[in-house]
Amino acid sequence: MKEIILRVENAHVQYGGIQALKGVSVVVGRGEIVTLIGANGAGKTTLLKAIMGIEPLSEGNILYKEKTIFETYSDRSHGKSTPTHLLPGMGLVLVPEGRGIFPELTVRENLEMGAFLQKDKKRIEKNLSEVYQWFPVLRDRSGQRAGYLSGGELQMLAIGRAMMAEPELLLLDEPALGLAPLMVQKIFEIITKLNTEKKLSVLLVEQNARQALRIAHRGYVLETGKLVLAGSGQELLDNPEVKRAYLGG
Ligand SMILES: Nc1ncnc2c1ncn2[C@@H]1O[C@H](COP(=O)(O)OP(=O)(O)O)[C@@H](O)[C@H]1O
Ligand SMILES: [Mg+2]
Repeated sequence: MKEIILRVENAHVQYGGIQALKGVSVVVGRGEIVTLIGANGAGKTTLLKAIMGIEPLSEGNILYKEKTIFETYSDRSHGKSTPTHLLPGMGLVLVPEGRGIFPELTVRENLEMGAFLQKDKKRIEKNLSEVYQWFPVLRDRSGQRAGYLSGGELQMLAIGRAMMAEPELLLLDEPALGLAPLMVQKIFEIITKLNTEKKLSVLLVEQNARQALRIAHRGYVLETGKLVLAGSGQELLDNPEVKRAYLGG
């Protein structure tokens, strides 16, 4: 691996008495698509929230571009983190589960919210026109309320909004959830294209293991808060345990 863009070390997260993450370590290399697969409740969303500083680690460290953005101390008395709202400005952007779109706002207004840290109006316009090139349907619907979009269009809007922040590493939380098969295909094609053409690094969280492993350079399997397997996308696709548990035999 050339350069590591994200390094999660020994991440523990607790919700009251529930241990949602029990010592998870993950790395993403610059230019890689890395997928984290696991069943509902495995802790996938929790890991992404921890990276974004939304859920604090009770133990562990997170480094982004070689800078510590979250650390805990050996006595576990306290943790220190980079505030969540500053991370997009560093190129670290989350496309949340359920997409986090504001249905009352127009498509364009939702996109502009992705550029909230950007003060340069020209640059916002340039990024907006690039997003419209990637997703022409968003241009066609720019003045409509986002609440009227289909599931697939909403996911494109969520990715487009993330692109407005000029990401280097995109965290995607189940982008295929609830979409029809053709749209699932399309979303995975878009993720691949963002990686190859825009050189975006991607951490992709998915229950849709087959599709995710097909487009990923590497993957991790998370089970009830612990990593149980890691390998290249192809190795995991060929792994008998993965086949049995995640690929339907
Ligand atoms: N805010 C919360 N409060 C309490 N428990 C939570 C909370 N969020 C998630 N959990 C629990 O933590 C575990 C992991 O959840 P989550 O990270 O959402 O899993 P996944 O995204 O893999 O479906 C589950 O047991 C879930 O019920
Ligand atoms: Mg989840």
